[in-house]
This record gives sequence, structure tokens and C-alpha cells, in this order.
Amino acid sequence: MARIKDFVDSTPFSKEEIQRIVDLSLSIKKAIKAGYYPPLLKNLSLGMIFEQSSTRTRVSFETAMEQLGGHAQYLAPGQIQLGGHETIEDSARVLSRLVDVLMARVDRHQTVVDLAKHATIPVINGMSDYNHPTQEIGDLITIIENLPAGKKLEDCKVVFVGDQTQVCASLGFITTKMGMHFVHYGPKGYQLNEDYQAICRKNCEVSGGTFAVTDDADEGYRNADFVYTDVWYGLYDAERTPEEYEAIFMPKYQVTLTSMQKAAPGAKFMHCLPASRGVEVCDEVLDAPFSIAFDEAGNRLTAMRGLLVYFTPAPVLNQALADEAKAELDALL
Ligand code: CP
Repeated sequence: MARIKDFVDSTPFSKEEIQRIVDLSLSIKKAIKAGYYPPLLKNLSLGMIFEQSSTRTRVSFETAMEQLGGHAQYLAPGQIQLGGHETIEDSARVLSRLVDVLMARVDRHQTVVDLAKHATIPVINGMSDYNHPTQEIGDLITIIENLPAGKKLEDCKVVFVGDQTQVCASLGFITTKMGMHFVHYGPKGYQLNEDYQAICRKNCEVSGGTFAVTDDADEGYRNADFVYTDVWYGLYDAERTPEEYEAIFMPKYQVTLTSMQKAAPGAKFMHCLPASRGVEVCDEVLDAPFSIAFDEAGNRLTAMRGLLVYFTPAPVLNQALADEAKAELDALL
């Protein structure tokens, strides 16, 4: 079966395909840790379209390209014609002729969908208002590296505490696809919407995982091996002020040392970062030995290397044509 060209959403990918991306990512991580930088992206170029600011996504994509022998170009808002003078379709066609792979962090999900539709090269979603699929792969890798002793992925429960952000949705997608047990613990009106829930439930039918939403703290935290949160006031929330969000979520949905005690013994804390310290999570949790949030940020790089290699086809050398071109060049120089 032909591979899907783009990584806009993890939903069309099977559990086995996701596992292959993870295995590839971990293999490259092992090689680099041992001092071997496989030149899997040699001479290849990544175009990085950003409609918003970013630390982890931008730096991990750029570092991944460099470590594997390629190059990345940062295309910031206002630096290219996309969304201004030039249509998405035309930009996608042009960039397909100038780089080998594209990533885009966008305000609206439809932008990255349209880029992928019109580009002839792979397009990777660096976060939209709908989901954050590269974060999914980094998070899955982090969970795998921190599995409780004697447990497999399918034995683990993950609770997401707080607002139904795109990271919350993505965590629901990837955990249920892999057969894990996912709960979104958040206030009514801020829980994953029906569309997201339907995808998680469908994943569970295939994988054997479970999915629930609740506003009951005991139900949310009970037996959770991983406790995850994200900001309450993100890039995509324009409806309420931070103070209004805090009035809804504080103190019930703040992750504290006390709330962590409701989870399974040895439970790990995760956060996609950046964190609002003292808001959705206390310093004592984010900085605790059981917090794996910073290793999770490091695994954004692990994931980007695997994703870039998986989606970017290596150029095939045509030796006869190459020899002919070299001879032609030599005659001209
Ligand atoms: N988690 C995440 O996507 O971080 P950035 O916004 O810094 O890329």
C-alpha cells in the first residue's frame, strides 16, 4: 500500500505505521547518542512556515535537518507571500519546486490541509487550531521511555487535566490509537468536543483502549500512570481573558503535589510546554523528579528526526545520468 504523503493528522495512520515512525525515531536517537549522525537527509531542504511563534517546534525541526545532513529555512509571518499576495495553492506549488519537504504551524487547520493538497512534496503539521501531531509522536516516545516497571503501553492510563486544547485532542488521538486508557478531566463546557470524542472512541474500537471525559477529580486521576496538562489560555483562545479562565479552572484543575497523590504511585508529570508556572501547574510539580516535561521537550527533536526521514523520500541516484551531467559540467568549467 502506498504511504500517505503528509503528516497533517495521525488519524489516517495505523497503530503499526505510528509504531514504525517511533521505532525509526528511537533508532536515530540511539545512533546519534553513540556519535553516529546518519546522513539520511543529506542535501535535502525543509521549508518551515510559521504563522505563530515557537521554540520547541522550530528549533527541533531545524536541528533535526542539520544533524541528518540537510538544511532548514525559517519562513516567518511577513517573510513570505503566503496568506498575503499569493494563494495557498500557488505557494504550495512554488515551494514544492524549491524545497524537499514543508512544515507549517498555522492559525487555521484548513491552511495546512490546503498546503498538503496542493504541494507535491510532503507537508508536516507543526500545530494548528485542531491538533498537534508532531507533539503526539514526541509524547508517545516519552511515554515509552518512561513506562512503569512491568507495564506495556496498553496497560497504562493517561489523564489530561484542564482545557480541551489541540494538545489535549492530540494526546487523546495517539493514546487511544495505541491501545492506552485516556481520560480528559476538565470542567463541563471545556471537555473534548463530540468530534474529538468520536475519533477517540473509534480508535478504541480498533485498539482495545478506553476513553472517557469527566469533571470528577478522583475518576480522572485514579490509577493514572501519566498526568498531563497544558495552558488554560493558549494561542487559539480569544474568547476569554486569562483571568476568566483562571476563575473557571482554579483551583480544581491545577496540577499540584496534592492532586498528583491521587494518581498511581510513581506517576509521571507531562506538559507540552511552554508552561504558565503557578497557573495550570505548580513549580513543585513541574520541577519534581517525577516531572518528565523537559525530557518530553527534548523528544520533540527525537520525533522530528524520525518524521522527517519517514516522510521525505531519499533521492535516487541515476549513475549514468550523473556521469553524463558531470562530464558536461567538466567540459564547461
Ligand atoms: N509544545 C510546543 O509546540 O512548543 P512551541 O510552541 O515552543 O513550539
